[in-house]
Amino acid sequence: MTDHTENTMEKIISLAKRRGFIYQGSEIYGGLAGTWDYGPLGVTLKNNIKNLWWKMFVEDREDMYGLDAALLMNQNVWKASGHVAGFSDPLVEDTKNQKRYRADHVLEENSVDPKGMTVLQMNEIIKEKGIKSPDGNPLGEVRQFNMMLKTHIGPTEDENSVTYLRPETAGGIFVNFKNVVDSFHPKLPFGIAQIGKAFRNEISPGNFIFRLRELEQMEIEYFIRPEQWQDSFEHWKQQMNKWIEAIGLTKNKVHEVEISDKDRAHYSKRTIDFEFEYPFGQKELYGLAYRTDYDLTKHTEASNVDLTYYDEDTKERFTPHVIEPSMGVDRTILAVLLSAYTEDELGGETRAYLKLSPAVAPVKVAVFPLLKNKPQLVEKAREVYMNLRKNMSGVVFDDNGNIGKRYRRQDEIGTPWCITIDFDTLEDNTVTVRDRDSGEQKRVKIEELTFNF
Ligand code: GLY
Repeated sequence: MTDHTENTMEKIISLAKRRGFIYQGSEIYGGLAGTWDYGPLGVTLKNNIKNLWWKMFVEDREDMYGLDAALLMNQNVWKASGHVAGFSDPLVEDTKNQKRYRADHVLEENSVDPKGMTVLQMNEIIKEKGIKSPDGNPLGEVRQFNMMLKTHIGPTEDENSVTYLRPETAGGIFVNFKNVVDSFHPKLPFGIAQIGKAFRNEISPGNFIFRLRELEQMEIEYFIRPEQWQDSFEHWKQQMNKWIEAIGLTKNKVHEVEISDKDRAHYSKRTIDFEFEYPFGQKELYGLAYRTDYDLTKHTEASNVDLTYYDEDTKERFTPHVIEPSMGVDRTILAVLLSAYTEDELGGETRAYLKLSPAVAPVKVAVFPLLKNKPQLVEKAREVYMNLRKNMSGVVFDDNGNIGKRYRRQDEIGTPWCITIDFDTLEDNTVTVRDRDSGEQKRVKIEELTFNF
């Protein structure tokens, strides 16, 4: 991959828009901060990533159960989980123009490390150092701002009809713990996995799809006996590293960071963040948390439904503990794009392309007739194209413009292989297969075309 410079993000945002990966949300109305829409190639890239995750962590394991819970949940879920009281970020306001900022971000921009600081400490340091808003105005008091997006269910808008768009998919998993146990009688340890949207009213969304108000998560709550937590934590750390490799992230840009007591989420007793070196700094990509029995205990207390587990082998009843590998789909996509974005020189020309792993690339194979105006070539190319489509997804046909331009277009969206049908094909039934990264071409018999990923 190419070393990132300050304008790598601009290049990626522009490529993503131009080639139909990611568009600004509600763009024709000036956008809606913290929302992005995935275009035709973006949704395929996203689906490939989600399908790969589902295969690796659900289908290929015997101890995992899938789930797709509702986004809207009873408000008591979020009261019990501690999110109503504690899912917040520190907010500070410019006293002149009322613009609002994340207080920890303001501190970082003023070379103060906010890690582990309480709101009180932030207030003190802002006063002590005379820290101003980015517009140079005095700042007000730092206070906690709850990030859940609140709405009302039904026609009345009172306290009883309040609900929240879920801030994490995990909530849906915990409230279905008993359902899955009653339906499948799984033995510990076992996990429940879910992919789905989550919403956060971020104070300052930004950096493209890094900090979003509407995001997608891939989460596992892995239920264990309490004494298994360290082994299980280690197992999931390894699994997450395996995943990072499978999707082609630049390994040396991913760092495991132990999160201190003060900075961990309210439910966690140990957290490791997998941070990625984005062009705007090293920041969180994934999280691995030991949530103890916090959630099941809180939901048992609040719902009066017993969420304990009876172990048939040991004849014990107890509340399982939980290891949670949590991964953001959108951040995965950003890290995949950044890892894949490459600038090099090919055939004496510079090119910018996406060196995507074939497993996630939205287009795997592009089929071209060498010339558009030769019906025999077009017919043969369409035949090859239609046959490939029968056995794999991600096959496209392109006869637009000269062949060099077609290769470049496919390189730019990360297509690993291009097949060209030329005059020799009509003689000997062979085609050229061009490799995206090296630009090398080799002749292959049509019946021997195979693509492994
Ligand atoms: N479930 C962990 C998170 O949403 O960050």
